[in-house]
Amino acid sequence: MAFQPLTRRSTVRDVYRTAVGRDAIDKLLLQSGVPRAAVTAAGPLRLSLIDRLTSRYTGPGFIDAIIKLVNSEADLPLEGLSPDPVPWWQEAVFYQIYPRSFADSDGDGIGDLRGIISHLDHLADLGVDCVWLSPIFDSPNQDMGYDVRDYRTVMEEMGTLEDLDELIRGCHERGMRIILDLVVNHTSDQHAWFQEALLDPDGPYGDYYFLERGDPKTPPNNWTSFFSGPAWRWFPEAGRWALHLFADGQMDLRWDNPDVRREVADIVGWWLERGIDGFRLDVINYISKPEGLPDGNAFVGALMGFVGVEHYFYGPRLGEFLRGLRRDGFTRDRPPASTPRRRLEDGTLGDPLPPDPVGVMVGETPGVGVQLGRLLSGGGRDQLDLIFNFDVLDTPGHTRWDDYVYDPEYLKRFYRTYLSELSPNDWIAVFLDNHDNPRMLSKLAGGAERDPAVRTAVGKLLATVQLTMRGTPFLYQGQELAAVNQGFEHIDQLRDVESVNRHAELLAEGVGPRALWRQILAGSRDHARVPMRWTREGGFGDAVAWLEGHDETPGFSAAEQVPDPASVYAWHRDLIALRRHHRALTLGDLTWVRPELKGYLAYERSLDGERFLIETNLSPKQRRRPKLTGRIVPVLGGPRESTMRPWEAIVSRID
Ligand code: GLC
Ligand code: MG
Repeated sequence: MAFQPLTRRSTVRDVYRTAVGRDAIDKLLLQSGVPRAAVTAAGPLRLSLIDRLTSRYTGPGFIDAIIKLVNSEADLPLEGLSPDPVPWWQEAVFYQIYPRSFADSDGDGIGDLRGIISHLDHLADLGVDCVWLSPIFDSPNQDMGYDVRDYRTVMEEMGTLEDLDELIRGCHERGMRIILDLVVNHTSDQHAWFQEALLDPDGPYGDYYFLERGDPKTPPNNWTSFFSGPAWRWFPEAGRWALHLFADGQMDLRWDNPDVRREVADIVGWWLERGIDGFRLDVINYISKPEGLPDGNAFVGALMGFVGVEHYFYGPRLGEFLRGLRRDGFTRDRPPASTPRRRLEDGTLGDPLPPDPVGVMVGETPGVGVQLGRLLSGGGRDQLDLIFNFDVLDTPGHTRWDDYVYDPEYLKRFYRTYLSELSPNDWIAVFLDNHDNPRMLSKLAGGAERDPAVRTAVGKLLATVQLTMRGTPFLYQGQELAAVNQGFEHIDQLRDVESVNRHAELLAEGVGPRALWRQILAGSRDHARVPMRWTREGGFGDAVAWLEGHDETPGFSAAEQVPDPASVYAWHRDLIALRRHHRALTLGDLTWVRPELKGYLAYERSLDGERFLIETNLSPKQRRRPKLTGRIVPVLGGPRESTMRPWEAIVSRID
């Protein structure tokens, strides 16, 4: 079907039929908590009418902004190719390490590469296939490495290039792959490119960034930063404004400049040759900004919490830039220093695998909904391989900063909707925790996780869903130990630039201390950034850790979890082993079982006649187990009684 550009005479239904429009509307519903039925009811209405009815709330230009967004994505067919053969990452379990907090080898209170090296067996025993390291490149650490000063050097406190080479080899020898974090929407203001740009804004490096002339009192547009305040910083020495969507030392790169694209591709190639197996690409959907940097719509800004996002969360040249990066950076033209050893059926390791022709591209894509996600990662589209869809993290009408209990029914609804909108050539990333979010376990348990039995049950339930959903699971360090949110009591205990800035901003706005702290405590990224609990005492031995943990509940350290066959760790390990032996659990079809039953999340995974049943009780109460047909034999968890225990999870075979 040819793409019909939208006009003000188009209807709501016309908008919803397009990939971009559908995502935009779904996002608006999610943010506002308005039910989807409202869209169905409004389906036949013309946009001009909607504009008249809603402009009281939205202000002028809202509908025009939507029309523009939808029309920017001319007809992009989604009939890509199903990847063949199955790429390794579809069957893999990824594990994200936040190096600063994983393990400290030299007693300076900061996690480092040698710390990771010393724990590689922990990961291999767990069954991890690919490790992802959050940033380790040289950085002034305004945003903990997400502000890179030099893309070819290791941050001093983390170690050396030689350590990294050893880490890469250490992964490969254990049959694991390893990917790094590529942060190229922006660089640190201390990167040599930016320093050159400041010295000579009209020279070649001036063009690497968004350096705008203007009046020092009025930023070039109304965009706001994700980390509070305007997205512009005035540099008096250069007489220019510079764009920073994140902290004021994270300067946005101008990808329209072919030199920038070439530099990034070179960096990627350099690392692939060193042996890494790909990258996770930080906020990669933000890299294309529209010409003229137009003002953001105030209504969208208020709803999303940031002004300007609609212009760059899926910018005009995004697809082109990603295809170029894949071709010029990720496609190997030189052999890597090493490759992972093959994992054999019996669990032993064979010879090194041949190099992957293309390094894996995992996109961090905030704000991207299901349809845009498909455009970015669909098989045969030659852009990204996997993307993260963040809509799972908060229930409709809530943001991370709200202090609320997550309705687990939404977890079910999220995956049901998501999977139902995919075609066979789509594949999704499945994640619940990362370094930018409080722990999902705590969100779901809502404080009840103080009881170790609840903590264990919810930890196992989440692991079960994440490791048997159809998609590629990304575990985050500590999930296997049932890590929870921390009992921080004061802003001085936090280190994250986002929390600190937000705290200052709310304070300045006059928000009362209680309400303010509730927000910060609900949303702070530091919950997930405290040191991994290797020992019961936690922390980094005798050293004072750069950020201190506040969870002392006995039983939830690696030292206690690993030897305990009933632990959350053992559950993860056993589930991962089960996945490895039964492709029904990775590549198999997924069929929902009795989805209409509230509080019961169940599905079948099947392939080549092999069938598994995954059943969970999404509530803190007992419930009757629905009667199902077939001979159902538990393989993990159980016994399978007529009553389900609170938060019960169980994996069975159907014979
Ligand atoms: C991504 C990272 C986050 C960082 C931001 C800016 O969202 O995950 O930690 O602050 O990008 O680089
Ligand atoms: Mg250290």
